Amino acid sequence: MYDDTLDLSQPITWESEEERQAAIAFFNAAFRAEESGLRQAHEIAGDVEKWDPELAETLRLYGDEEGWHRELLTEFLGWLGGEVRPMGPTTTTFYKLYARAKRPETIVLVNLMFETIGSTTYRLALRTAKPHPTIRHMLTILTRDESFHVPLNVHFLRRVLEHEGVDSPLRLRAVYHALSVALAASAAASRRRAKKFDNIPFPTLARAYTEQLGRLFVHADDLGFEPSKPLLWAFGLRRSDLNDQGDLISADAAERAADRSQVIVEAL
Ligand SMILES: [Fe+2]
Ligand SMILES: [Fe+2]
Repeated sequence: MYDDTLDLSQPITWESEEERQAAIAFFNAAFRAEESGLRQAHEIAGDVEKWDPELAETLRLYGDEEGWHRELLTEFLGWLGGEVRPMGPTTTTFYKLYARAKRPETIVLVNLMFETIGSTTYRLALRTAKPHPTIRHMLTILTRDESFHVPLNVHFLRRVLEHEGVDSPLRLRAVYHALSVALAASAAASRRRAKKFDNIPFPTLARAYTEQLGRLFVHADDLGFEPSKPLLWAFGLRRSDLNDQGDLISADAAERAADRSQVIVEAL
C-alpha cells in the first residue's frame, strides 16, 4: 500500500475560491474520520489482544491503514492549498459522543456505520466531484479501502458480540437507530460546507446513507438489527429495496477485497 503514491505535480484550476474551500472542507471531514478510525481500532486491539491475538493484529493493521489514509490526506490537503482545520460544531459533537462510548460492541458498531457513510460518500463523489486525475486517485483509494473496511468491521462486530455477549441488545439497537437518523441529518451540515466541491444534493446523500446503513443488516439477521422504518419511509425506500445487493458484508466479501489490486472500484 505504501507504493501507492499520489501524483501531486498536476496543477488544478478551480471554478471559484468557494469550490476550493469546499474541497478543503470535504477532505478535512475525511481526515477526521481516518483519525477517529485509527484511534478506535488501536484502542480496541488492546482489549481484544487478551482473547484473540490474531484478531487484535488485524485491528492494528486496519488502524494502520487508516493512519496511511491520514498521511495521504495531509499531503493532499497541502496540494489543495489547504490544511487540517479545527472541526466544526457538528463534527465535534459527533466525535465527543463517540469518544464516550466504552463498550467494545458499541465502538465497533459506530465505526462500522462511519465506514459505511464514508464509503457511500466517496462512491457518490467519484461520479460527481471535479474530474481531475489527482482528485480521482485520492477518492479511488479511499473508496476501495473503505469498502473493504465495511465487511471487515461486520466481522469485528460479530466476533466481539460472540465473545462479550450482548450486554443490552436494546441499547445497541437504540444506538443503531439514533445514529442512522443523526447521520442522515448530518448530510445537511456537510452540504453547507462541501457541496460546491462534491456536487451531491442533500436528498441524494441522505437517501444513500439510509439505504446503505439499512442494507448493512439486511444480510446479517444474526446481528438483530432492522433498518429504521421511519427513515426508510422518509426517503421513499422500502425494505425490499435493500435486498438487491449481493454479499458485500460477509467474511468472504472481506477476503475477496483484501487484495486491493484486484478490487474494481465502482461509483454509486
Ligand atoms: Fe480510511
Ligand atoms: Fe476505514
